[in-house]
Amino acid sequence: MQRTFAMLKPGVLQRRIVGEVLARFERKGLKIVGMKILTIPPLLAATHYAEHKGKSFYDGLIQYIISGPVVAMVIEGDEAVQLVRKICGPTAVCESLPGTIRGDFCLHTNLNIIHSSDSPESAERELKLFFQPNEIVSWDDGN
Ligand code: CMP
Repeated sequence: MQRTFAMLKPGVLQRRIVGEVLARFERKGLKIVGMKILTIPPLLAATHYAEHKGKSFYDGLIQYIISGPVVAMVIEGDEAVQLVRKICGPTAVCESLPGTIRGDFCLHTNLNIIHSSDSPESAERELKLFFQPNEIVSWDDGN
């Protein structure tokens, strides 16, 4: 069992497609064990995306991510980090195939509507930034 962090960016709430995006993870059988809506403070945005500081798209990325509320999530399952990344599709919109979230809903790489952790180490770091331990709920699905 593994946990990963995923975040629906502001465009998802604005376009009223939260349900459609979440359904992709639920359909696969992944478990949502934490979820909140928040508007990200600039400092948290900078910490979360620190590895991209200095890149050409950094300023636009920060501007976008703080422009409206996001849905932050903890998703649990076997190999959840890789599985969630696959369901999201590659970062670059031209590479994300139809059937993936980015392939189906994104037109621009910098407005790519969803973030997910790229490794177990990133997941641990990002989960701690966005969630207190008592905000993650273990639940039994009987399987
Ligand atoms: P995300 O998964 O949130 O992680 C970093 C984000 O930077 C990425 O999704 C994109 O939104 C953005 N990004 C990465 N590469 C580029 C790029 N080449 N041009 C514009 N935005 C990018």
